[in-house]
This record gives sequence, structure tokens and C-alpha cells, in this order.
Amino acid sequence: MFAAALYLLALSSVASVSAIPVKRAQPVDWMQANIGLLGSRPLKHICIPGSHDAGMSQLNGGTLFSDAANTQTQTLGIAAQLAAGSRYFDIRPVITDGTYSTGHYSDITEIDSWQGSNGQSISSVISDINSFTSTNNELIIINLSHAYDTDAGNSNYPIFTQDQWNALFAELTGINHRYVDPNPTTVDLTTPDDTIDLGDYASQGFYQYSQLNAYNEYADTNTLSTMESDQLTKMAAQRTSPDSSYFLLSWTLTQDALETLGLGDSILELAASAYPALFTALSPKLSTSTYPNILYIDNFQNDGKMVNLAMTINTNYASS
Ligand SMILES: *[C@@H]1O[C@H](CO)[C@@H](O)[C@H](O)[C@H]1NC(C)=O
Repeated sequence: MFAAALYLLALSSVASVSAIPVKRAQPVDWMQANIGLLGSRPLKHICIPGSHDAGMSQLNGGTLFSDAANTQTQTLGIAAQLAAGSRYFDIRPVITDGTYSTGHYSDITEIDSWQGSNGQSISSVISDINSFTSTNNELIIINLSHAYDTDAGNSNYPIFTQDQWNALFAELTGINHRYVDPNPTTVDLTTPDDTIDLGDYASQGFYQYSQLNAYNEYADTNTLSTMESDQLTKMAAQRTSPDSSYFLLSWTLTQDALETLGLGDSILELAASAYPALFTALSPKLSTSTYPNILYIDNFQNDGKMVNLAMTINTNYASS
């Protein structure tokens, strides 16, 4: 099990911008600019864009059989993804050479070996977030999972120990403006049945998965039509009312075994085929009871489309 923590920053209720006429594109601080619409809503009534394997826009070393084609999921760094409107980040921390980095690793059972690459360092993720929040008052959710010690032999990477988590949490307290709920350990769902103890970090902006309980199930296919129907069927089943479970629409394609070996599409090529389909396939399935909370993709682009889609949902389907 990947016991870990969610991590929230504040969407503070600083005075909203006065009435903005209909605009073609949303500003960088799109949540704050729409604070009148979004500010009083629970997260279940808001749609935000998010980034899958968000740290993997660059490759900083890895194992023998890993390369950009089978580990790179993004082309923009965290700073640029934030500026482009992404607000939910799948961050997979690893230890490499004794430091914390993002990584993208899998257990390749055929060769009985862990393979993958390191992405952006955790320290640069922290500085990217801090430079963004120094001028933008936005909600940012970081989901930590898949935490492996890659300094151990790659026949079997161990998951983080409590001490390794604590050292990561300590580093992440370098993130400014962390949102600490008045009831940090009981907000939302309480029963932290995870094996990692948040200890004092529970009052420093770190939360258990169960406290932002989400339906998050990817299709695990490289076929676009299969992924589309899988995710849209799951959304219809899960989101029967605005208060149904928090729902992440995983609009991602996953390489098959041959593709991971370089025979076929790269992750970014698969992402390029999935992306345009999001803007045609989702709309007919939306209603005031059924809409996603997180639009989750590979290769987050700076074209404004994801924010526009999220805001279309927030304006036309979701309500307070
Ligand atoms: C965060 O990641 C964990 C582990 O992959 C997952 O179970 C959980 O649903 C995720 N949370 C959200 C909000 O997607």
C-alpha cells in the first residue's frame, strides 16, 4: 500500500476582483479571478485541472531500460504547469543519491527489475510552488504516492520508511502558505487507517488520503476509445449527484509492454491522441449532477484549454 499524505495550500478569501466581462481566456490566477463563483463552494462542487506524474518533464538519471519514451509524462515544469492552470499535482517522491526527487518507476516483472527515471527534484518543485504563490493566491493540491527508495538495489525498491517520510515532510514544510484546517486531523473523513503516521505534520498542511477521499481509477489501456468509455462510465456511476464521491477523471493512456520497450507510441505520443478527445467526448456526458472534480492529464499544455473546460463546468454544471 502507498500510505502517504495529501497536501493542501490555501484558497484564501482575499477580496475578489470586480465583475469581469466574458473573457476568451482565463488569467493565470483563474481561481482567484473567479472567487465570487468558487470561493464558497466545497471542493466537490469545483472542477480543477490536474497533472499526472507532474514532476516528469525532465529526466535526471534513471535505470538502464528507461528513457523519455517510457517515463516522460510532461513537457512543462511545475512552475509552468501552475502558470498554465493546473492545480492538482501527482507527485511521486523517490530517494536518489540520498536526496528527494520526483520519479517514475515501475516493477517490470518480465525482467524482475525496477525500471524508471528521476524527474524534477523536490527542492525545485518547492521553489516553483513558492515563486507561484508569492504572486498568486490559488488552491494547490499535491498528492504524494509511489514513494520508493531507489538507492536500494533495483530488484526490489522498498517503499519509504516512516523516517524517510518524515524527512520528506520536513523538506516540504519549505512550501509557503500551507493550508492548515482548524480541525486538521478530523476534517472530512477521520479514520486514518494508513500506516504512515503524520505526527506533527498533521497540523502543518499534510492530510491523509481518507481526508480528501477520491475515486481515482485509471483505465490502464493504450486504446483511446476504451479509455474514453471506461472513464465516462466510471464518472456516470460515481457522480450521480454533486455530493457524490470526489471524482478524478483520469484522461490518460498507459503504454503496453511493447510500447515500454520502445516498440510503438511514447507516453507523450499517447497523450497527444488523448488530449483533443477530452474536449469532444466529455461535454455530452456532463449534467448538473454529473461532472468531474479533477481533469487529469499527461503533458499539460499552456494553451488555456484545460482551465476553460474546468470553468465551463464550474459555470454551467456545478453550483454552490
Ligand atoms: C492520491 O493518490 C492515492 C494513491 O495513488 C490515491 O489512492 C488517491 O485517490 C489520490 N487522491 C486523489 C484526490 O486523487
